[in-house]
Amino acid sequence: MSRNAEDLAATVREVAGDAPVRLGLILGSGLGHLSGAVDGVSIPYDELEGFPPAGVSGHVPQLVIGQLEGQRVAVFGGRAHYYETGRGDIMRLPLEVLAALGAEAMIATNAAGSLDPEMPTGEIMCLSDHINFSGLNPLIGEPSEARFVPMMQAYDPDLRAALHGAAGGAGITLHDGIYAWYSGPSFETPAEIRAIRAMGADAVGMSTVPEVILGRFLGLRCAAISTITNMAAGLSDEAISHAHTKAMAPLGAAKLEKVLRGFLRAL
Ligand code: HPA
Repeated sequence: MSRNAEDLAATVREVAGDAPVRLGLILGSGLGHLSGAVDGVSIPYDELEGFPPAGVSGHVPQLVIGQLEGQRVAVFGGRAHYYETGRGDIMRLPLEVLAALGAEAMIATNAAGSLDPEMPTGEIMCLSDHINFSGLNPLIGEPSEARFVPMMQAYDPDLRAALHGAAGGAGITLHDGIYAWYSGPSFETPAEIRAIRAMGADAVGMSTVPEVILGRFLGLRCAAISTITNMAAGLSDEAISHAHTKAMAPLGAAKLEKVLRGFLRAL
């Protein structure tokens, strides 16, 4: 844990109180409004030195600490992506702060393209595993032995079961699938999508994987949910653009919010 993270956690505690946070939520493109559901205090990223500027529209660059469905949570209204800076570890400091605040788990959310015709736009998918198609790693340069992070069951089986339980309880279909990380910011070619499909991926996106690697490095239990905003390149005539992603994210966001609320109530 870096000195800076401990200092920032102390700053956050001064504003938000000392009670430990149970869980962190990272909100993806078009999902930032969920941070408004939390009853608590919000701290803009630019007041937290070293936090990334959330430079992509559809993200809300603030950390909100407070109660959601009876649990004390830390909600990251926006994330920074590798493609914004070329730094794979761009989310390391926020996740270190989350761990320093006492969190035991994190749930990442994202917008993704689907590779599965049975999982069209508007559906949501719980990640069962990932494929790091980018070849990048946020721990490159980390000097400690802890860098050799095992990635078996990186997506915590108990958290996944609880998310599926919450979805079932709310009558919502929560698909299960493998997410491939593509660096972006350009979208994939149809040939890349065919390659990723042959590798076994069900969805593709530009985030989450580095955060889950960092989360496991920091000892956090991890889970992640994708909202499907389009069929991936070459699989339909649907538009593929950031504007389309933001326009379609609300379709899955409503389901995602219900699942997360049910999950937190049962925690
Ligand atoms: N590819 C990569 N990232 C995405 C997509 C996609 O098709 N849709 C939303 N985010």
